[in-house]
Amino acid sequence: MPASEQLAIYPGSFDPITNGHLDLIRRASKIFHHVVVATLRHETKDPLFTTEERMEMITQATSDLPNVSVDSFDGLLVDYAREHGARLILRGIRAVSDYEYELQMALMNRQLSTELETLFIPASEQYSYLSSRIVKEVSRLGGDVSALVPASVLARLIEKHSNL
Ligand code: PNS
Repeated sequence: MPASEQLAIYPGSFDPITNGHLDLIRRASKIFHHVVVATLRHETKDPLFTTEERMEMITQATSDLPNVSVDSFDGLLVDYAREHGARLILRGIRAVSDYEYELQMALMNRQLSTELETLFIPASEQYSYLSSRIVKEVSRLGGDVSALVPASVLARLIEKHSNL
């Protein structure tokens, strides 16, 4: 693992990863020596994709980025960051409406660990409306989401919804 100042953790549900997430990962990979995309194993949130499926899709979508790795975690994010010697958490902000929730999480994480800093990265404008939830809904109802998700995700979404 690289030195803590050079290591950034990008946590999320990624159910599934979208082009908006991917855009942020690409931009972050140019700034930090190493970016770990950390997928939450939240069994309670009833995700469409299993943790393994979500990790596989992220791994495929980031295979051209050598300084990006994919992992999963459960429990507190601050504990995961501490275990990996990381001090930076990245979160994307799409619109002002994201800010309140993100600030709440960032401040709670700082309360839990003063060593941890959260960096907010503005989403690119073409993805500012995009979310995993909306992608799943449109796909489930037969809409075309091919411009919104990586190819690996598109195939799995179609497969998943044809089996539902
Ligand atoms: O993609 P999401 O669902 O917005 O990601 C949310 C995530 C995974 C970053 C957040 O739920 C999280 O960090 N969960 C781990 C539990 C935790 O540490 N909670 C306290 C922070 S408020």
